[in-house]
Formats: sequence, structure tokens, C-alpha cells
Amino acid sequence: MRATAEFHPGATQLENEAGRFVGATSGSRQSTKRGGTAEVDACRFRPHNNFNHKLEVTGQSDRCFFLRGTMKAELQAIQAEALAALKSVETLDALESLRITYFGRKGKLTDVMKGMGTLSKEERPEIGRLANEVRATLTQAFEAATEALHHQQQEHQLEAEAVDITLPGRKPAYGKAHPVMQTLERIEAIFRQMGFEAVTGPEVETEYYNFDALNTPADHPARDLHDTFYLTDGHLLRTHNSPVQIRAMESQSPPVRIIVPGKCYRVDYDVSHTPMFHQVEGLLVDKHATFSELKGILTSFARQMFGDQTQMRFRPHFFPFTEPSAEMDISCAVCQGDGCRSCGGTGWVEILGAGAVDPAVFEAVNYDPDEVTGFAFGMGVERIANLQFHIPDIRTLYENDLRFLRQF
Ligand code: PHE
Repeated sequence: MRATAEFHPGATQLENEAGRFVGATSGSRQSTKRGGTAEVDACRFRPHNNFNHKLEVTGQSDRCFFLRGTMKAELQAIQAEALAALKSVETLDALESLRITYFGRKGKLTDVMKGMGTLSKEERPEIGRLANEVRATLTQAFEAATEALHHQQQEHQLEAEAVDITLPGRKPAYGKAHPVMQTLERIEAIFRQMGFEAVTGPEVETEYYNFDALNTPADHPARDLHDTFYLTDGHLLRTHNSPVQIRAMESQSPPVRIIVPGKCYRVDYDVSHTPMFHQVEGLLVDKHATFSELKGILTSFARQMFGDQTQMRFRPHFFPFTEPSAEMDISCAVCQGDGCRSCGGTGWVEILGAGAVDPAVFEAVNYDPDEVTGFAFGMGVERIANLQFHIPDIRTLYENDLRFLRQF
């Protein structure tokens, strides 16, 4: 088959040495006065996205090829266009899609490179050299642009993440122990250093451990509904930490030297009472534990807790589970014993109950009262915290007002 192609005057004419074939540059397939005609053997143009025409060779390829001028012009146009486009690229993403436009599998430059095979042997070196030059130029330009954008991005990031090291630091809000816990920890530390081991027990108790085993009979006023939180199933909230004395003695044989820190509960609410409060119970059982030993230990405790100048006095008292029993007062830490509102003008403040373990208690736990003696004491932690921090109303400890709590 033979075909004739005619060309536009402004178009670069496609012509080989033999004058056998004529192609055209962009958009011209019209006839031209100036341009001659050429016979095309089994070749046809078909529209293509990158070029206006693409030569498809179906016949003898040595007779079909692009004219040098077209390729050259395409390459130069590609280079100019790419370089111009590179100038306005602002992001690495945009740069990448531009790279694909030229260098991608279906890229503009790639397409021209593919067309190289259709050139004649004579044309190939020149166009090949130009193509390589264009490719090198563009590769370099893309690399430079990549580097510049990387640099720019880094600069932006540095700017965005800039830290003003001259600003003062922000102080983290540290939490700390509640004043009652601070006091409890101090009490524990003092007794631990005197050889007492801290043990705990349940806050939900039976009447037996809370009262009966502690020689507190059913008609005792302490069992009154007004003081004790009874649960519907017959249990109760322990009203003191003394039931743990019983539990400890049940589970071990003498000697015993323990303290029991923890919560207990009573139906009570005024300036010096909250329904939940903390106690530290103490128990010492041995062959020859004496009341003077008890006094010595409690005196040492009070001096470590409130200072060397602290005075102590023991007043006779009654507890069902100790005999004899006493309450210990210390000289008022607020007025140093002169008398003030805190101590009701007496100069003394009661801080704990104590006594020698009643033989009935030993019998309840199968300890032989003829073999061992013991003493016990119990103190309210909130009361001691109040004395330590000069807090007039015990209830403020549990209002959770941070303005109050932050002071300690
Ligand atoms: N359990 C007594 C109370 O809560 C305190 C106490 C303990 C007294 C041990 C004597 C011995 O008041």
C-alpha cells in the first residue's frame, strides 16, 4: 500500500536523504505549497497523548522514521517545558508527579526515548546525543529541585518546631500524700524502728471479732446502733482496729509485736469526728511484757512525733479488753501546755487509749494468761494529724479542697 502525506508550511518537514518519507511536526497534516509530498509505505499516523502524531510502523521499518527536526523540536520543547514547570513546583508531592510526567513509564521523555528505535542509523547518533543531554539536564534539574524542596521542608519544620529556650519551664504538678497518710506513715515508721511489724485486717467484720472476742458483751454501750454501722447481713464496719489483735493472736503464738494501721468507722460527725477515720493499733505480747514497758514505748513515740519537749500523762480509763486501762495525754503542741482553745484551756490533749491485755482476751485466742502478759494501745490518726498540722476542724481533711490540701 502506498500513501501520500502532505504538510503544513510552518511545520518542520520530515524528510530523509532519499526523500522517501515525509512526516510533520505538531498538528499538521494539511497540504502545503512549499512542502512536497512523500510516499509512505505502510505507515500511518495515529493520535497520541504526548505527541500530536505517533508513527506506527507496520511495513518495512527502514522506510519509515521520524524526521530529525521533529524529534529535536520535541526534545527541546520537553526540556524547556519541564524546566519552566520545575520553577513553580512548591511541594515534594508536586515534584514527584512532575517527575512522573516526564520520566514515568508513559512519561513525555520516555516516549521520545522509545521512539528512538524508529530513527535511521545516520540520525540516531545526533538525536541520541541530544536526548541524552536533555535527559541529563532534566535529571540534574529534578535532583536540584528535590534537594531544594527537602531543604525548604526541613527549614519549615525547624521553624514550626522551634522552641524558645529562654522561656521559663513549666513546673509539673506533683501529687503528694494526703496529710492523714503523711501522719500515718510517720507513726508507722516510728513503731517499725522500735521493732513492730505492720499488719492489716478486714474493715468489714463480724460482731465476734469487733466485740465478743474483745470482752465486749452484747449489752455493752459500744455495740449501740448509734455508734456502729451494721450491715444487713449481720456484718459490721469495724469500729476500731482492735479486732486485728484477735486475728493476729489466732494466727501466731507469742511473742507478738505488731501495729495495725487502717480505717475504721463510727456513726459520728462533728469538728473532731468523721464517720471514717484511721487508727493505729498496737499489741505486744510476751512472757514478761510490763506496763512500764508500754509507758516507755509510748513516751518514746510521743517525743519522736511531737518533739523532745513533749510531756506525757496517763489517766486511768476503762476499756473492756484491757485491765488496767489508761488514756495518754500529751502537753498541748499549740500552747506548749499553757492552755489554749485547742486543748480546751487544760494544756493537755488526749492522743490514745492503752492498757494491759485483759486475761479474757487471751482466753478467747487460746493464749495462757498465766504464761504471757501483753499490752495494747490504739490511737486516732486524724487527731494526731490535727495536732501536728494545727487543723481546727477534722472534717476539712475529707472535703478534698485542694487549696486546703496543698498546704501540707
Ligand atoms: N480500741 C480502742 C478505741 O478504739 C483503743 C484501744 C486500743 C484501747 C487498745 C486500749 C487498747 O478507742
